[in-house]
Amino acid sequence: MNHPDHGHGHDFTKDYWEQHWQPGPDGGPGAMGDSPPTPYLAQELSELAPGTALDAGCGAGAEAIWLAAAGWQVTAADISSQALARAAERAAALAPEVSGRLEWVEADLGTWTPDTPFDLVTTHYAHPSIPQLDFYDRLASWVAHGGTLLVVGHRHTHDHGHDDGPPAEASVTAGAVTSRLDPDAWEVVTADEPRRTTTGPGGHEVVLDDVVVRATRRGGS
Ligand SMILES: C[S@@+](CC[C@H](N)C(=O)[O-])C[C@H]1O[C@@H](n2cnc3c(N)ncnc32)[C@H](O)[C@@H]1O
Repeated sequence: MNHPDHGHGHDFTKDYWEQHWQPGPDGGPGAMGDSPPTPYLAQELSELAPGTALDAGCGAGAEAIWLAAAGWQVTAADISSQALARAAERAAALAPEVSGRLEWVEADLGTWTPDTPFDLVTTHYAHPSIPQLDFYDRLASWVAHGGTLLVVGHRHTHDHGHDDGPPAEASVTAGAVTSRLDPDAWEVVTADEPRRTTTGPGGHEVVLDDVVVRATRRGGS
């Protein structure tokens, strides 16, 4: 979610992300900060029966830890070993009782594929080097029949008027995300573009224009 130098002029490579998840001089979270879980998990998933889940681009692990605490068996994947180390440290400190439901996996999700589909595939603000909508296509293909896809991303807006928003290539619209979901195969449950305020690294207020898409893959029993 946080973009210390916003990636402008960079490819979103492993090196880029490793650099951004470098610990701070005090051994703390560094420039990326430790974001809380997004409110969309509770809003969108509270009524689902927990099963297996993939958190794609888990960063410092807030959403993965939330899911494990809610009973999901979570595979939390990220390209950055630094991020995964931070996430595992946070999980051990915040929720040691759910460590058995968390598996941390270092993987480039632009090329990795899982052995089995998941009951839930979710991603929060992850932006890889492949095109954003192609990335979401990959995630959708890993959802089991009857399972759920929850995409939380940055919304493409023209009203920032400044240079500190998310990079354009990492931004989408709800319509662009849902247009990739074949209506014969998916039921779109949520397609929203909310704006919210949260606290960024350093404690300053950040306004986020988000995209939230939840869809159920048809064909479950
Ligand atoms: C802006 S951060 C968001 C982290 C976390 N989901 C959150 O909301 O705080 C984007 C994350 O995507 C990860 N990422 C980027 N490209 C990736 C890829 N190809 N495969 C796996 N993870 C990737 C980065 O390492 C980073 O942790």
